[in-house]
Amino acid sequence: MVTGVTGFVGSHVAKALLERGYRVRGTLRDLEKAAWLVNNVFKDYADTGRFELCYVRVIAAVDAYDEAIQGVSVVAHVASILTMDPDSTKVIPATVAGATSILNASMKEPSVKSFVYTSSLGAATMLAPVAAEKALWKFAGEQRPHFTISSVGPSVIIGEALNKAHNEGDGAWIRTLYDGNTAFWDSMPAIYAVDVKDVAVIHAAALLDPEVTNARLHAWGHKCNANDLLVVMRQHFPEREFIDDLAYQTVLHISADFSEPLALLKKWADQDGWRSLEDSVVENVNSIINLA
Ligand SMILES: NC(=O)c1ccc[n+]([C@@H]2O[C@H](COP(=O)([O-])OP(=O)(O)OC[C@H]3O[C@@H](n4cnc5c(N)ncnc54)[C@H](OP(=O)(O)O)[C@@H]3O)[C@@H](O)[C@H]2O)c1
Repeated sequence: MVTGVTGFVGSHVAKALLERGYRVRGTLRDLEKAAWLVNNVFKDYADTGRFELCYVRVIAAVDAYDEAIQGVSVVAHVASILTMDPDSTKVIPATVAGATSILNASMKEPSVKSFVYTSSLGAATMLAPVAAEKALWKFAGEQRPHFTISSVGPSVIIGEALNKAHNEGDGAWIRTLYDGNTAFWDSMPAIYAVDVKDVAVIHAAALLDPEVTNARLHAWGHKCNANDLLVVMRQHFPEREFIDDLAYQTVLHISADFSEPLALLKKWADQDGWRSLEDSVVENVNSIINLA
């Protein structure tokens, strides 16, 4: 089961599992928004019953997932409220309730063997507590579930979008640079960037690999900044005029232990290291052009 299957990350997590021969149940709150999945991107899987959708109206409701969880063996909880509403009371309690509600549903379903929660780099680096991942580990410590729990903490995620909507809005990082919109980059002069396909493989591995238990998997990829990304864009898309380099770009000096996520990329995708920044940027821009 993959929550947030209509999203940028959720659709790639579903794809990684389908490509490895698993059946996927995607949960969503708006069936119309998912038409592209069953009519296009996952049509063959949907037509053969290997990909199905399940409507979950309010993820924070106590019994929200009780029906969707039936018969499920692994759970990827990718959906999250991403409104960036400055009023934290409209975001944090519902996000924590969403995580708790799906964990409680998993506790009631004996078939569940593993659970992965999509967190973020921020949960490992910000001084302010990131409530939903804290709730996850509190649950793991107190409830002693019959399934393994892991979290994947991505940095800025870039790469091929499977749907046009994923290249729109403030969270479409490469699209903002492609359009010359620097609002995000002015406030973020150095980042780590990771390919969405790496993030998806690490989710799949955390769900399927019996050796992964209670892991915090930092999926950060490459240190870079807006100017590094612009270099790749200019080189591969010379027909388009991009903005000039931004001032005050720098390099991050934080790091984490990436040995386990990198070993999982090797084991589950036969890949040495993170996908290259160049490939990620080129695939992202190609998806902007091809899905326009
Ligand atoms: N993108 C990044 O750079 C990045 C970096 C670090 C971590 N993450 C994490 O990755 C996860 C997925 O992000 P994304 O980039 O894939 O974002 P996205 O494309 O906006 O997808 C978000 C998904 O969550 C669903 N969702 C949002 N609010 C919901 C609600 N109230 N009830 C039910 N479903 C809801 C959306 O459903 P609808 O389609 O119905 O809106 C969508 O399926 C999030 O947990 C995010 O924090 C992302």
